[in-house]
Amino acid sequence: MSVFTETTRERAREIVARYPADRSRSALLPLLHLVQAEEGYVSPAGVAFCAEVLGLNKAQVGAVATFYTMYKRKPTGDYLVSVCTNTMCNVLGGQEVYDTLAEHLKVGHDETTADGAITLEHAECLAACDYGPVMTVNYDFFDGVDPQTAVGVVDELRAGGRPMPTRGARLCTLKEMAVQLAGFADEREGAVADGGPGEPSLRGLRLAQQHGIAVPGYDPNTPIKRKDAGEKPAPGTKVPTDGVPPAPRDAQAAEAAGTAANAPASDGKPAGDDAAAQQQNLREATK
Ligand code: FES
Repeated sequence: MSVFTETTRERAREIVARYPADRSRSALLPLLHLVQAEEGYVSPAGVAFCAEVLGLNKAQVGAVATFYTMYKRKPTGDYLVSVCTNTMCNVLGGQEVYDTLAEHLKVGHDETTADGAITLEHAECLAACDYGPVMTVNYDFFDGVDPQTAVGVVDELRAGGRPMPTRGARLCTLKEMAVQLAGFADEREGAVADGGPGEPSLRGLRLAQQHGIAVPGYDPNTPIKRKDAGEKPAPGTKVPTDGVPPAPRDAQAAEAAGTAANAPASDGKPAGDDAAAQQQNLREATK
């Protein structure tokens, strides 16, 4: 008898339906997350389930499941603690954070505490170098950690608490996260209303706004081109009839508001029209 519930089977059908019938194998990645959501890892039964649903053989599914580190091949704890030990975080103390947690939890890489609460792993760059050293719990970020704060986080988790990540949504279990990674919404009330981008991520944007730097001709409403349907404008987009593309929305807004985006640069040229002036602005802004 299958270990997978009817809910999982229903969700599997929903996932497969998202893809064109002749490319259903593209559904494999979310399907692997789905089976991980049920069992906590991608078991041999999970591999067989995905193969059956997609008409693949188990070797094909296994090849994908073993390639990506987010698919776990053995039972995993409720909370996956990933500590970045890549270059930037390492020079800022990431290895010390990892070593301290390993000693405190009495586990090594990819091992789980005896109570089943925490799986520890060292991770490659988590794409948050500007917040290093970072660690994630079920892929939610804890920025600028040191050994003491990292130990505090895992102790709170083991005591049944759910510490707030520095950014992003509130914590859930790894199985619950796997459901989201399979493409299903986080149903908890207000779950995605927490947090937001941190200041270091917004620094470049703020400098650009402050110094009137914009990408010439960039239109954030640029429609996505489809091979089969031609170019479809986004709702509300004005389609030009004279072959002249519409001005960028930001530039139009700046012009209307008389903001710095179109203000003359120091040499008298419009800042938005002169890439050299923009580069100069950027150099001065980042001195
Ligand atoms: S090196 Fe740690 S997030 Fe990039």
